[in-house]
Amino acid sequence: MEYTEKAESRNNRETDDRAIALFDSGMGGLTCVKALRRQLPGESIIYYGDCLRAPYGDRSVETLKFFSRQIADFLTSFPVKMLVVACNTISSLCLGNLKERYPDLPVEGMIDMTVKTVADTYPDRNIGIIATSAAIKSGMYVKKLRESGCRGELFPLACPSFVPAVEAGICDGPEAEAIVRDALDEYMEKNQVSALILGCTHFPFLRPVIEKLYPSVLIIDPADIVARGIKTMMEDHALAAGSGENPQQRFYTSKLTDAYAQAVREVAAEDSGEITVKVFDE
Ligand code: DGL
Repeated sequence: MEYTEKAESRNNRETDDRAIALFDSGMGGLTCVKALRRQLPGESIIYYGDCLRAPYGDRSVETLKFFSRQIADFLTSFPVKMLVVACNTISSLCLGNLKERYPDLPVEGMIDMTVKTVADTYPDRNIGIIATSAAIKSGMYVKKLRESGCRGELFPLACPSFVPAVEAGICDGPEAEAIVRDALDEYMEKNQVSALILGCTHFPFLRPVIEKLYPSVLIIDPADIVARGIKTMMEDHALAAGSGENPQQRFYTSKLTDAYAQAVREVAAEDSGEITVKVFDE
């Protein structure tokens, strides 16, 4: 409803070529950019990955609020039509603050659309949720899965070793397998997990390893669900880009690592321009 009014206030324009802004602690949110580009190839994207200050998963709530405000203020200084918090940790702990700060902008996180889809599709499954320590400690996934109607057992687990591995470019091979086994072997053995939510946007980089090690578990990537949800929202509320424009992809980071550059190349393909380094004061 609230987006309808905004669409109307834009003089009944039927398309909107402003960019969709996304951010994360680092390269994790690029998994959302990839999913979004699959669903909405005509949309312009502006992305910020805070690689210098990653991981966020062990930070205090106050620090996360401060970082997310800095980044969101920067992104919303561009003409954007939506802010996507492509980080489950920030979505767990700071989404309300960001929604309050930008009352005229749709602000979407990773969790609400995910829990609704999971509850509608798999209400009775036993579901594992792996995420950062801060996101698990917040209890947000478990609370919202229950509120949405999930009736199976829920098994939340913090996997603090995954984000540093991904940021270092360790996403496959024996080292990545050892990191994943160390975190998940005992957990999978002990719990009857039939579906596993990758509750951190960095974790899909390790998805092939997780699928190889635990082939009977259904993997749920919130990025796909959120991208589909955003597509529906764009179409329903006249926010979608027109077909005549060339979509632009702009990528920012606080620290340009090889892994980030490589991930941007894979996500943006031929459209990727330069990656700009932007560091905030602390
Ligand atoms: N990718 C983020 C998430 O989805 C944050 C990971 C981190 O920096 O710890 O939670």
